[in-house]
Amino acid sequence: MILYFSGTGNSLSVAKKTAVLTGDTAIHISDLMGDGTKIYDERIGIIFPVFFFDMPDPMRVFVEYTRFNPSAYIYGIATCGGSEGNAIYNLKNILLHKNCRLSYGNVLKMPCSSTIASRRNIKYKLNYLEEQEKRVQDISQDILQKRKNSDSITYKIKGSIFNIGFINKKAKKYFAVSVDTNICVECGICEQICPNNNIVLDEAGVHIGADCSYCMACVHWCPHAAIKIHGKHVQIKDQYHHPDIGLLEMYRR
Ligand SMILES: Cc1cc2nc3c(=O)[nH]c(=O)nc-3n(C[C@H](O)[C@H](O)[C@H](O)COP(=O)(O)O)c2cc1C
Ligand code: SF4
Ligand code: SF4
Repeated sequence: MILYFSGTGNSLSVAKKTAVLTGDTAIHISDLMGDGTKIYDERIGIIFPVFFFDMPDPMRVFVEYTRFNPSAYIYGIATCGGSEGNAIYNLKNILLHKNCRLSYGNVLKMPCSSTIASRRNIKYKLNYLEEQEKRVQDISQDILQKRKNSDSITYKIKGSIFNIGFINKKAKKYFAVSVDTNICVECGICEQICPNNNIVLDEAGVHIGADCSYCMACVHWCPHAAIKIHGKHVQIKDQYHHPDIGLLEMYRR
């Protein structure tokens, strides 16, 4: 089984391709989330984007609260804009505390979903997508051969900068999302797409709650660019999602 989390479809695309190449099934963690989830497969993949040099909070919580087969071959793949920090290392550590072992980890550079918070007229690094095709094939071969590289996944001091309380707070504040009710047409896409179930559309309009994982899905997928980041509007031409991933695939089940 392959468990994934994704905001703009990069990790979903990797999960889907890996699933085809390894003969496994890819499932979004929000479709499994619940107390006492047990996954006793012999091979378990965990695929997610890097947020703030770490795993996204929902993926961390999922791994912490799920029971895995302790003898499973578990692998992790992180997609990132260029600096994975301690994302894979932290996954390895969480599993270790559960008496499980991350056998294999790898990282793929992809167009960066956070750039929209700081820049306009963005030129996304789409060349990463071509490289990704080949890398996913190589990684899938590693997985099929049950390759191990866990010992080479080590702690990076720089990767823990966002663990410092005030830096973490500041970074997350920078990515705070809100809706411009003058632009919003109440189509409900953001409500369906939010992996945290943090957006509600009712008679009064769209409400964004406090349980945000900063995945930026609502920002990138809103057809009218009505979701603002730290109070600033984004441009439709700056929205990004993986070209192979369609909106319906991103909806929560
Ligand atoms: C809030 C936020 C924080 C991010 N932090 C990092 C980071 O620390 N390092 C990095 O290389 N990329 C970072 N990224 C970029 C994503 O990891 C990257 O674009 C990833 O492929 C997105 O995958 P997804 O489409 O599956 O969500 C961040 C993106 C967001 C939205
Ligand atoms: S996706 Fe955009 S337009 Fe649609 S309800 Fe959400 S904020 Fe409004
Ligand atoms: S509110 Fe937006 S950024 Fe926050 S978790 Fe939901 S979709 Fe992601």
